[in-house]
Amino acid sequence: MASALTVWLNEINAHERETAAIRGDEAGHGHGHRHGHGGGGNRAPARRDDPDRADDPVLNALYEVVDASTTVLDVGGGSGRFAIPLASRAKHVTVVEPSVGSMEELESIAAERGITNITAVASDWDVSEVEPADIVLCSVVLHHVPDAEPFILKLAQKATDRVVVAEMVEFPGIIEIPFWERVYGSAPTPLPGLPELVNVLWEMGIYPDVTMFPPKPVLLDDDRASTADQLRRRLGVVADTAESERLEAAIAELLQETPDGLTVKGVNPRRQGIITWRP
Ligand SMILES: C[S@@+](CC[C@H](N)C(=O)[O-])C[C@H]1O[C@@H](n2cnc3c(N)ncnc32)[C@H](O)[C@@H]1O
Repeated sequence: MASALTVWLNEINAHERETAAIRGDEAGHGHGHRHGHGGGGNRAPARRDDPDRADDPVLNALYEVVDASTTVLDVGGGSGRFAIPLASRAKHVTVVEPSVGSMEELESIAAERGITNITAVASDWDVSEVEPADIVLCSVVLHHVPDAEPFILKLAQKATDRVVVAEMVEFPGIIEIPFWERVYGSAPTPLPGLPELVNVLWEMGIYPDVTMFPPKPVLLDDDRASTADQLRRRLGVVADTAESERLEAAIAELLQETPDGLTVKGVNPRRQGIITWRP
């Protein structure tokens, strides 16, 4: 049987390879951090990023372990979905984030809100040089990291109190799978999620606590037009082709308005949890 770390690596590599092959890319479009789900560029702030939200179970769980004396290191913190609200309760938050667009967004939101206790470090975690913190947070980042072991060891090494990893059971891009199937007749191997990560940790001799939150319907952050744009980009669909016709038909069929926002028909409610351990 393949080791959990090998399964992890193989799933990410298969996802990248198959994504590129199905799209017909030469060099591969990748699902890496420069193309991932974080960092919205000029897009309007998403509902899920509202720093004053009270209904985010991950944020609420973090509030329970953060007080005015706590330092937090937010690894792959994006544009501050957690760093901004945490900064109002913590002593200091350091965000390590390689995406320039996300960093600019983070800095502008922090300035707008008069937040002065966030330090932004523009770097990949693997090569970053940062001081340890009480809590090391890593939210929906690891499925972008094929070589998970050194990344996780560094999370543990930099945490003086605990590591908190937030992950979804199915990676966020799962909502695109029915579109891939309708446009190309097949979809790339899904990226790994929370179950695969727990296997990896066990294999590394880390036995964390796992807290699962109630499943929530998947609501898209964008309106219909920007979701369609994003799908075109992510699936590599060029205008006026048979693929673009199939994508338009899939969008008409699968994007569904609900009283709470836009969702994708047939996609399971999202299950997410946090994985914590004290190194
Ligand atoms: C899906 S976003 C999550 C952002 C934020 N943690 C959140 O929960 O909203 C994934 C983030 O991981 C970052 N990332 C990917 N690979 C990374 C690496 N090797 N080191 C640090 N951050 C990375 C990406 O740039 C992106 O901002």
